Amino acid sequence: MSSDKSLFRRKTIAAILQNPPADHESHSSPGGLERHLTVRDLTALGIAAIIGAGIFSTIGKASLDGGPAVSLLFVFTAIACAFSALCYAQFAATIPVSGSAYTYAYASFGELAAWIIGWALIMEYAVGNIVVAISWSDYFTGLLDGIGIHIPLWLTMGTQTGHAGYEAVMALTQAGRPMADATPAQLDGYKAWTSAPELFNGFHLVVDLPAFAIVVAITALVYIGIKESKNASNLLVLLKLIIVFVVIAVGAFYVQPANWTPFAPNGVGGVLKGVSAVFFAYIGFDAISTTAEECKNPQRDLPKAMMYALIICTVLYVIITLVLTGMVPYTKLGVGDPLSFVFAEVGLPKLSGLVAVSAVFAMASVLLVFQLGQPRIWLTMSRDGLLPKVFSRIHPRFHTPSFATIVTGIFVAVPALILNMDLVVDLTSIGTLFAFALVCGGILIIDPYGRSEARFKVPYINGQWLVPLILAVGAFLIVRYNPAGNQEFLLDVTGQRGWLQTEAVGGHITGGFAHQIPTLIFFLFCIGLSVLSFRKKFSLLPVLGLLINLYLMTQLGISNWTLFFVWLLIGLAVYFSYGYKNSKLGQEKVLVA
Ligand code: ALA
Repeated sequence: MSSDKSLFRRKTIAAILQNPPADHESHSSPGGLERHLTVRDLTALGIAAIIGAGIFSTIGKASLDGGPAVSLLFVFTAIACAFSALCYAQFAATIPVSGSAYTYAYASFGELAAWIIGWALIMEYAVGNIVVAISWSDYFTGLLDGIGIHIPLWLTMGTQTGHAGYEAVMALTQAGRPMADATPAQLDGYKAWTSAPELFNGFHLVVDLPAFAIVVAITALVYIGIKESKNASNLLVLLKLIIVFVVIAVGAFYVQPANWTPFAPNGVGGVLKGVSAVFFAYIGFDAISTTAEECKNPQRDLPKAMMYALIICTVLYVIITLVLTGMVPYTKLGVGDPLSFVFAEVGLPKLSGLVAVSAVFAMASVLLVFQLGQPRIWLTMSRDGLLPKVFSRIHPRFHTPSFATIVTGIFVAVPALILNMDLVVDLTSIGTLFAFALVCGGILIIDPYGRSEARFKVPYINGQWLVPLILAVGAFLIVRYNPAGNQEFLLDVTGQRGWLQTEAVGGHITGGFAHQIPTLIFFLFCIGLSVLSFRKKFSLLPVLGLLINLYLMTQLGISNWTLFFVWLLIGLAVYFSYGYKNSKLGQEKVLVA
């Protein structure tokens, strides 16, 4: 007998199911989480997580770049997400425990990959929530301004934003230009920085207090209980849906079909510039899988709820985009609050205000679901011994992972006080795409031929010929249509003209060979996977899901990849100094030959 020292030690599905309370029929179990969620609650939770900053905010810039055709991008991205959702659903039906992609990776790729994915999920959930909290604060302070309540500027933005604004304005004035040349955001930053109290050593107290406060409030709710969170979430979703329907129903009367022409003013490249914003709008359907241990019937309900939420949101997104771009010319849509902006434009200021209020609620519900998800992933990692035991402590009265919930609250609330949004948006996207890619890849490992007995499985389509064929067609289309707005032909290292993009999806110009590295690796990977699929007749849909997610990752620019790697390196350091030694699986005795 000896213990398994391998970094790729895998948990069997049976062992994973033994880890949480195995009795799925019971209402709760001693020390366990409580089972309250039905398929309706889960669908609502999914919608709560999906509809948020994406549709209320980032859709504006995407419409400006792509025109009305951005509605088609919503359909395309939904199809891409659907591949990942199918894989998530099969995993959720096979392994209905709280850890989501982390647990799925443990069963398919082994411990090291599971740790890496758990670490990457922090980017989707906690880091993603920093984004949502900051944009919530923007809407909220705007609303307060609208009703005549003015919070001092130095309490409404992160330290980084204030300082950046100050530096920008100083640079302008030192160059002899007027302050008025600065953007409104830079001017606000400057005003915040110069009006803020000074604490020590010239440190100016510029902090985003509303962002901090909303995270504290939501964390308190999540701490108190899943039932309370569920009720709050259902209420918020209802409100959110009502407003979305009102926008569609009223807005439809103001649509002028002439605004839909030209449909794609900047071509395919312009439309694809919105990929990141549109992808962000869909993030969240996967988050409901973290509540598996609180579902009444997770194997049946989780797959259904993910699909329902995705379908409902896709339909709403496509209609909203058509309404928005039909109401005003797309050239006017490059604003941070497009949904309320269009009503002000057509002379309905009250409705515009109402939509702004609903955005505040919509984003609060996104915060709620992600704040709920993160501690449940840590709970599962802690049960496996990869994080200290205290992370799996369940509150005796509230039946929630109490310590992990508080740590999540601090992890999100404190950076929300100080950080600027751009950085955290990109990290969220890259971490989420990575998680999606591994989940699709995981299905290829545990069930490459669709033979699983799970109550839900990804429909099997033989990828033997289709994978190479689709990749060849995809490569042809990319070369032919050169998909990026500001894209230009680059001289690649060999001095030949290449077709690789200069612009990352997040809007950062990152030309040069370094940016090509992820893309080149991706192409080698595509060739490898084509050969494997041809030889092994892999299931088509997980292969497509894996490739689409990796492709989107390649579009995120080398600077984001660098940050992503730094984050992963920190994660590996934590793993080797704690998780590897304390892993329960690692301590189990196994028979050696
Ligand atoms: N999909 C979520 C949002 O748009 C993350 O806010």
